[in-house]
Amino acid sequence: MSTTPKRLKILVLHGPNLNLLGRREPHIYGTTTLEQIDSRIEALARELDVDVECFQSNYEGALLDRLHAAIDEFDGCILNPAALTQHGVGLHDCIKAVPFPVVEVHLSNIHAREEWRRHSIVGQAAKASVQGFGWRSYTAAFRALVEQLRDA
Ligand code: DQA
Repeated sequence: MSTTPKRLKILVLHGPNLNLLGRREPHIYGTTTLEQIDSRIEALARELDVDVECFQSNYEGALLDRLHAAIDEFDGCILNPAALTQHGVGLHDCIKAVPFPVVEVHLSNIHAREEWRRHSIVGQAAKASVQGFGWRSYTAAFRALVEQLRDA
């Protein structure tokens, strides 16, 4: 008897200041708004036949609460830690605590920017990191995560 495979559920988290995308340093982050990025992720989720939930907060605690609530519900997470990348110890520990893979995403290539921006404490806990493709970093990471979860 064949069983229907479980429908995957992916959480997408955006950290501080990403609500300002579109008008925030467009020469670095582009002119696409966060709403447009979420719409593109949702369209990809429909194409891949998975469920997705997108959430933005300027507070580390709110991101931690969302990850904790996802523990028995979600299969993976895409996270742009933004300004929490370098010193977000709570996020680092949380990524290690949750049972599902978390993929770090950045619109810009943080390694090609200021020295202080290059060290990612979040990336050290993440499964993988995708950066430098603008809004496409999200969709590239999303597709790769779904494919890998399906392979597992
Ligand atoms: C960012 C890069 C971070 O260094 C910065 O603090 C951000 C955005 C990116 O997506 O390129 O807020 O995470």
